[in-house]
Amino acid sequence: MRISSVFVSLLALIPHAVLASVLAIDYGADFTKASLMKPGVPFDVLLNKDSKRKIQSSVAWKRGDRLFGQDAAHLATRFPSDTFSHVKYLQAAPSDSEPAVYFTKISQAEITRSDRSTAHVKRSDGTEWSSEELIGMQFGYIKHLAELVANEKVRDVIVTVPAYYTQFERDAVADAVEVSGLRLLALINDGTAVAVNYAMTRAFPTPETHVIYDIGSSGIRATVVNLSTFTDKTGAVGTQLTTLGYGYDRTVGGIELDRRLREILISAFNAKNKGKDVRTDKRGLAKLWKEAQRVKAILSANNEAMSQVESVAWDIDFKTKVSRAQFENACEDLESKFVQPLHDALANAGLGLSDVTSVIMTGGASRTPMIQAAIKQIVPADKISFNVNADESAVLGAALHGAGLSRQFKTKNIQVQDTIAYDVQATYFAAGTTDVSRPRSISSNIFPAGSKVGAKKTMTFKRKDDFTIFFDYKQAPVPGFPTRMIEVHINGVADAILNMTEMGIPDPVIKATVSLSDSGFISVSDAFAYGEIKDESLTGKLKGLFGGSSSTEEETGSAEHVPPRETPGSASSSSSSTSSTAAAEGSAASDDEAEKKEEKKKPKPGPVEIELKINNQWTTVPPMTVKQKKAARESVDAEELAKHRREEARNTFESYLYRLRDLLSDESEEKPFRKCSQPAERAKLTEVLEDSFQWLNDRGDLAETSQLLDKRIALETLEKPIIHRYQEIEAFPQALNNSQMWNWHTRMFLAEARQNLTAEIEKDLPSKWTKDELDGLEKALKDHESWLDEWVEKQKKVKSFEDPVIETTEMKARAKVLEQHLQRLYRRKVPKAPKKKTTTTTTAAAKETDADEEPLVEDEQQVPLGEKKKKGHDEL
Ligand SMILES: *[C@@H]1O[C@H](CO)[C@@H](O)[C@H](O)[C@H]1NC(C)=O
Ligand SMILES: *[C@@H]1O[C@H](CO)[C@@H](O)[C@H](O)[C@H]1NC(C)=O
Ligand SMILES: *[C@@H]1O[C@H](CO)[C@@H](O)[C@H](O)[C@H]1NC(C)=O
Ligand SMILES: *[C@@H]1O[C@H](CO)[C@@H](O)[C@H](O)[C@H]1NC(C)=O
Repeated sequence: MRISSVFVSLLALIPHAVLASVLAIDYGADFTKASLMKPGVPFDVLLNKDSKRKIQSSVAWKRGDRLFGQDAAHLATRFPSDTFSHVKYLQAAPSDSEPAVYFTKISQAEITRSDRSTAHVKRSDGTEWSSEELIGMQFGYIKHLAELVANEKVRDVIVTVPAYYTQFERDAVADAVEVSGLRLLALINDGTAVAVNYAMTRAFPTPETHVIYDIGSSGIRATVVNLSTFTDKTGAVGTQLTTLGYGYDRTVGGIELDRRLREILISAFNAKNKGKDVRTDKRGLAKLWKEAQRVKAILSANNEAMSQVESVAWDIDFKTKVSRAQFENACEDLESKFVQPLHDALANAGLGLSDVTSVIMTGGASRTPMIQAAIKQIVPADKISFNVNADESAVLGAALHGAGLSRQFKTKNIQVQDTIAYDVQATYFAAGTTDVSRPRSISSNIFPAGSKVGAKKTMTFKRKDDFTIFFDYKQAPVPGFPTRMIEVHINGVADAILNMTEMGIPDPVIKATVSLSDSGFISVSDAFAYGEIKDESLTGKLKGLFGGSSSTEEETGSAEHVPPRETPGSASSSSSSTSSTAAAEGSAASDDEAEKKEEKKKPKPGPVEIELKINNQWTTVPPMTVKQKKAARESVDAEELAKHRREEARNTFESYLYRLRDLLSDESEEKPFRKCSQPAERAKLTEVLEDSFQWLNDRGDLAETSQLLDKRIALETLEKPIIHRYQEIEAFPQALNNSQMWNWHTRMFLAEARQNLTAEIEKDLPSKWTKDELDGLEKALKDHESWLDEWVEKQKKVKSFEDPVIETTEMKARAKVLEQHLQRLYRRKVPKAPKKKTTTTTTAAAKETDADEEPLVEDEQQVPLGEKKKKGHDEL
């Protein structure tokens, strides 16, 4: 009889992935790799638009335009303040933390402190951007690439993270995923993903233990994995993959080597240019960074490299020779760091090198000779293996794992049991003392390092009032990061306990389920008041003798699938909600208060649970709120829209230029453009056109939408008179016909009307018009006719390349005036006509003009306004 409404409905909203494709992203500090799993599409790494298998983890703005990958990274030397790489260091990083400070050493970007205390970067236009937004944009770009391959929308994504990533950083990844419009299927530790890739094509008849040694750009991680074979209930065979231990160093990797090499180049430059410090020049630093990467690659295979950079700063060209010895010397202090994670991981797993089948090398920096040399000093050569793809094993493993999670692919059955790298503590204040001043706090190591993910633990409290559970890392996981992860307020306790007491339940307790999700997120997934209604019957009493509270059974039974991120951020509330938490401290001396059995209400015996409210609060580095994520998504979308508009303007401009060039180059005299233009006009157009082409080639990439429009308008203004002449020539015959037609109609009308008028006067019948009115119309007709004759004669002498002397619009307008004059009289109703005879005779006459009347009415419908006016006039 569990009272749970909110929780169940929340779970029901989480869709069980049924979408066709799964995207995997291995987001690195330098490069990102992605892979798409879709039925019918070959399983491989996703290529970018230049068919590159890895995509630089960069985003840059060039004026209004946003660029990614290599296009973005290339801009670093031109727009150092608007190019952002290595943003991975800023994930959830407080602005004064070690990763954020390190970022400022390798990036020219300016960082600021956000109201979440994390580091944001500042663009040259003054706008500030979070890592979640910048990475969300990059994920969005990859989503777009994937959709081109999948030919459909791609939503589900699995993202790799280093095992050492804290909850703060995992939240930052999850938030970036949301900002990009993707949906997080799971996070997977990158070492584990490599192991999945390794296991993909192998069988393990006898259990094997390997160390995945991943030397990436922003850190080294060692993962000890155990691979064995299992047979499930149906007899199917699968591979069991279990992580046994982790070792890591967040300060060493390919980027630190780049930085050391750049230091060599900086020193060399400054030494050669006394009085100048290239550190003060952002573009110079960016150029030397690029050069350092190039030189490092050369030194991997050579003993020395020639470094040469044009116009580093102050227009000074720079040239120097760097030897491998020089480089290695500059990295001497790192040597022990290269291998320490391996020692740590083995120690963490409680194993020695001799227990390990192989050390599997992976990661971009694993090719660096100095790192390989360091490993070779401690690992026997026959145990070092390079049998996975150093760049792609993680993303391919992640994709396979993601496909398995989505349950719609037939993949090799690899069961993954991962573990966490840090101790997680739960702390709460002891209930009790009436003295509110100093409550005693109680901590427990609820998930020690090495705990299996996908687990749940139940904490039991004797409480009568709301209280708070604090979750902390035992030690600061990264210098400058907080230890406090989250505060969970359990609300509604007093009510629930009161109800239970009223039901006659002795000693009700509060149970909170703490989940460690498969993606490594800690959260309180539910909390309820729990008690048992005693069975007062004899059998019940006998049962009671053998003890056994049903609560523990219930707990293990409920360890079901945990949604990927049932953390604070996505589910339940945002960080603002607090309510009555201060009351927790006020609880009276109640720990061992006497049980009051109330015999009044007596529901069925058995366990009773009443769901309690869970309120998450972040006091250190909060994840983004729903509102912040929505705003971020909108601004990312707005950027996207602006980009599209710019691209469209550019494309339109470009095709306009080509069309114009075609017109100008066609020499045949028959072509309207040629006929209607003068040599001088064409010369001017050609000149501006060629300038525009030049401009588009040189600066089109930098141009804003408005500039593109301005350039087009400038050309169109020159082209317009020519087009106008041609259009007038085209329109003239019809306009003339129209004018003549109304002349003719009017003349016909006048003739008939005068005839009738005369007849009516003779018979003394009322007339529709007076003679003056008919004279007035006749005058209008004559004026129109003579105007038309005069100007049509003049127009006929105008050459095709000259501007027309009368405009067809004027012709139409004048014809309209005559037409309306005619209509006014024509529509006039017969004033009281007592004799039927007149009407019958006129019907016969009307037959003749029937054909002429048709256009009159037709045209009338096109000017309903005039008609209304007329009617109004008639009524008056
Ligand atoms: C690896 O897993 C197998 C199968 O579960 C087990 O028998 C073996 O002891 C494990 N090895 C280590 C080193 O944990
Ligand atoms: C306690 O019981 C009352 C009356 O039965 C009910 O209205 C209320 O919702 C209950 N409170 C809780 C927390 O279950
Ligand atoms: C002008 O009108 C006449 C008669 O209605 C028609 O035959 C001719 O095709 C028209 N010319 C144009 C250019 O519309
Ligand atoms: C002239 O009179 C006849 C007969 O009454 C009528 O049918 C016809 O419409 C009249 N013509 C005009 C222009 O009003």
